[in-house]
Amino acid sequence: MTPMSTPSLDDPLAPARKATAEMLANRQRHFSLPQPFYNDARLFALDMQEIFEKEWLFAGMTCEIPTKGNFLTLDVGENPVLIVRGADGAVHAFHNVCRHRGSRLCVKDKGKVAKLVCPYHQWTYELDGRLLFAGSDMGDNFDLGAYGLKPVHVKTAGGYIFVSLAEQPPAIDDFLVTLEHYLAPYDMDNAKVAVESTIVEQANWKLVLENNRECYHCNGAHPELLNSLQEFDDTDDPRATPAYKALVERKQADWDAQEVPWQLKRFGKRNRLTRTPLLDGTVSMTMDGQPACKKLMGRLTSPDMGSLRILHLPNSWNHFMGDHAVVFRVMPLGPQQTVVTTKWLVHKDAVEGVDYDPEHMRKVWDATNSQDRQLAEENQRGINSKAYQPGPYSETYEFGVIDFIDWYSEQMLENLGHTAPNLQLAQG
Ligand code: FES
Ligand SMILES: [Fe+2]
Repeated sequence: MTPMSTPSLDDPLAPARKATAEMLANRQRHFSLPQPFYNDARLFALDMQEIFEKEWLFAGMTCEIPTKGNFLTLDVGENPVLIVRGADGAVHAFHNVCRHRGSRLCVKDKGKVAKLVCPYHQWTYELDGRLLFAGSDMGDNFDLGAYGLKPVHVKTAGGYIFVSLAEQPPAIDDFLVTLEHYLAPYDMDNAKVAVESTIVEQANWKLVLENNRECYHCNGAHPELLNSLQEFDDTDDPRATPAYKALVERKQADWDAQEVPWQLKRFGKRNRLTRTPLLDGTVSMTMDGQPACKKLMGRLTSPDMGSLRILHLPNSWNHFMGDHAVVFRVMPLGPQQTVVTTKWLVHKDAVEGVDYDPEHMRKVWDATNSQDRQLAEENQRGINSKAYQPGPYSETYEFGVIDFIDWYSEQMLENLGHTAPNLQLAQG
């Protein structure tokens, strides 16, 4: 394979790398990060290089590109990426960059093509990335074989598509095996997007994730979500009540009888899966807690599946219910700008207007996303103040945030070429 990196001038980020590693090595654990992590342009560039260009990212769902030639695109910072279903049915991912003079190749968010044709001078690629046609004027000795699209690592499991721009991506297969198992009952290859939304938040991507990793704010902020959501999802949660524990036991017996997995699984701090009941008497994240789609997902026979929650750091959280699923993708745009894409998924045979009303289905998470956007943006505005200093996370309510910040700090240090410090010793 051609080397991915091009010769570069001196690394302008070298001082930022050193300063970042020092700040992380000396950070006070269980405290929010120092200000530059949330608003500095150099640190943002490092986040993109060391996290978003090295880790596995949730890109989209296989059902969005169901047949050969279906594609979707996304931007990982300044790196346009193209994901396409090949003639062989396999999902391929490439840098969305023409090998002629570098134009972006596919310019739409999604679509369907017979071949990949560059809009600039019509160089034409096969769906597996091979260059087929480069005009007639490239000379007799032009070697088409030397100018295929540059591949991006891609893996699929349980209907999810993950990509990594790293030359050697981190291991992920253990998680993918479990993801496949947990999502088998939902048959995600035979699902479809009922509706989707894209919002841009004026906040650093880590504030968007931090906000998602705790429900400390739920009571004050999310009346619609709390029509169905339990504020905790684990019987080990220090706040779990006896009534919650009894409900969990009852539901787990139901799920066992239906042979759907529910056990809490963790893969480091990066991935977490668990099935948890919704509020007693509710089965879906809708305004009234009742199903938003009459046709259930996959092979499920009961709408009462609680919510299967799936976390994938750095950029996704998810809720799977009996009747529909909601998947979230977070992509940083700038130091204080992040795009959050939400997709509501249903069985592919569910009929809009008959089985479901997308406007009804999206209400709870539209409201919740909008409330969360406001929280993240206000958090950002306060952090930008010269008065900001890192503040303490609550171990009772914000352990998920602690886990996220630990994951980020350890991964950043490791990807910068340092060994993660013994965090127990570093604890302040
Ligand atoms: S840049 Fe793509 S064909 Fe010229
Ligand atoms: Fe929230």
